[in-house]
Amino acid sequence: MKILVTSALPYANGDIHLGHLAGAYLPADIYVRYQRLKGRDVVYICGTDEHGVPVTISAERQKKTPREIVDYYYQSIKKSFAAFGMTFDNFSRTTLPIHHRMAQEFFLKIYTKGNIYPQEVEQFYCPRCKRFLPDRYIIGICPKCSADGARGDQCETCGHWLEPSELIDPRCLVCGEKPQKTRTKHWYFKLSEFQDKLAAWIETKKDWKETVLTFVKGWLREGLEDRPITRDLPWGVPVPLEEARDKVLYVWFDAPIGYISSTIEWAEKRGEPDLWKEYWFNKDTKLIHFIGKDNIVFHALIWPAMLMAYGDYILPAEIPANQFLNLEGDKFSTSKGYAIWLPDFLEDFQADSLRYVLTRNAPEARDTDFTWRDFQAWHNNELADILGNFINRTLTFISKYYSSSVPTASAFTETDNRILNLLHNAPTTMGDKIERFEFKNALQEVMKIAQEANRYFDHSEPWTTRKTNPLICERTMYVCMKIVTSLSVLLEPFLPFTAEKIKQMINFIDQKWDDISAPHVAPSIGKPEILFQKIDDKTIDIQVEKLKKQEIAIEEFQKVILKTARILEAHVAEGSRNLVQCTIEVGDEKRQIVAGIAKYYKPEELVGKTIIIVDNLKPAKIRGVESHGMLLAAEGKEGIVLLTTDKPMSSGATIK
Ligand code: MF3
Ligand code: ZN
Repeated sequence: MKILVTSALPYANGDIHLGHLAGAYLPADIYVRYQRLKGRDVVYICGTDEHGVPVTISAERQKKTPREIVDYYYQSIKKSFAAFGMTFDNFSRTTLPIHHRMAQEFFLKIYTKGNIYPQEVEQFYCPRCKRFLPDRYIIGICPKCSADGARGDQCETCGHWLEPSELIDPRCLVCGEKPQKTRTKHWYFKLSEFQDKLAAWIETKKDWKETVLTFVKGWLREGLEDRPITRDLPWGVPVPLEEARDKVLYVWFDAPIGYISSTIEWAEKRGEPDLWKEYWFNKDTKLIHFIGKDNIVFHALIWPAMLMAYGDYILPAEIPANQFLNLEGDKFSTSKGYAIWLPDFLEDFQADSLRYVLTRNAPEARDTDFTWRDFQAWHNNELADILGNFINRTLTFISKYYSSSVPTASAFTETDNRILNLLHNAPTTMGDKIERFEFKNALQEVMKIAQEANRYFDHSEPWTTRKTNPLICERTMYVCMKIVTSLSVLLEPFLPFTAEKIKQMINFIDQKWDDISAPHVAPSIGKPEILFQKIDDKTIDIQVEKLKKQEIAIEEFQKVILKTARILEAHVAEGSRNLVQCTIEVGDEKRQIVAGIAKYYKPEELVGKTIIIVDNLKPAKIRGVESHGMLLAAEGKEGIVLLTTDKPMSSGATIK
């Protein structure tokens, strides 16, 4: 049997945060490391998803080209994944020629088979920006939950999937203009044709996660509809049809094909260019997609339908999707800048501490929450006090009292046997759990061994027997070394850096997963080192503060439109002492704003001044007077001072 494992291809439009890791990456890496230790034939494939609206929007906001964005984030993501201990066999990119070729070939084959057809459709077009507005370029009010700011493809507030035409009060994301409907042509994938085949196939997946099945069955019950798989965008895989020359493939059509092209790249790099076929065209290959729950519909329905349409390829065998990890009670949000980014995290802490905490608290069956206090407590109380402590006390004891040579024993007591028995069973009990994607339980299993090991150490009192009965002491320490040796392998999928350090310290004799049920202990050890330093309160306070100060992403700041305005007329608002009511000119437009500055400025002083206003603030009534915009002022010990321009400036100028 072969195993082909994938993790969702992350968009190359931002760094990886802890939510991503907990969803699609860490579990896959644990699984793959385990399979390698079992000696199985496993290939782990990933890469960056470099097309689509997420990339073009980031590029526009950062005033860069899509190419610059994806080049930067490909490198950055790849680097921080490596520092986190991810062991992809290949980490590719969807902008590579091999991928474009594969995606186009895929399209053409199912097009030729009649599963793709063109259709005239109405599409939003922004008259001001002079362009089509696909997916997320349109925002408006969600028809389901009434939240404003819902995107054309999905409402982030209630999670509902949308068509842009369903949005209430649609607006252009870039300029806020009301879009027009224009006719255009798009190519549709006949998803509806696969309804029955998909339903029958899903019926055979009884052991899939409940959360995945519920979701998929919901979609099937509603009935699958054909989906447009082309877009009017200048960035993406060109549609390989003469009459669709300006269009690109929808990112969710090309991206999963990236799993195949990345495998091809892997085979080519190994100098065996046909090797990928032995996985993708082999009924004996188990294809496993690790994803977060927001990707379920694509991996469990649309992608399998694409594969069915094409023929030849295998279908996914497992889709162990995770739920979401939250952050201190709130959703991670890239656009709001509310996240802990992997590169930042790794500047301050060890990768293994994060791997531990994310697995211990994995959102396997329901959403979970990451808090800095939990992180500190679990690192200190479990990694340092239980695991690190046992290994350290064993190794220092041997180094100190046996000059680093490991004592041996041949007969064991019941107490010894009890713990040796735990070791004996661990590869199977843990392995069963890992193979069922119960990583949290598997980790608990190995931590239980460390905990029992500490009890065994305490109970055996080697510090006493060393003097009273040296033979017993030798036996105890030999058993402890068996435990340490086993741990160095059992921990590897979860804490690879720690496992490696332990192996170094104990002069590890190479053994695989199943071997260590009866571990082979090296005759001597190296110098013991502390594995986990405690994290103090101050360090955690700094992190908590960082989150509170809430850095905002540039995208968020750029939503605020600032302009220059000229004050044409001003008077103190009726019935008020502090409010000044001004008529201002913003370019060609006149409007009224209200500001609490009467204590600092006489109305006649204000007239003629060029000020700075927030142009796109929702109109609001201040003490009964309507204000359309907000002026900017600095407040300090001098009182309040208006912001104006350094040189004379026309009104309506944008501020950057
Ligand atoms: N880029 C997508 C996301 O981050 C995932 C793509 S998975 C693939 O949500 F299958 F399409 F590659
Ligand atoms: Zn626009």
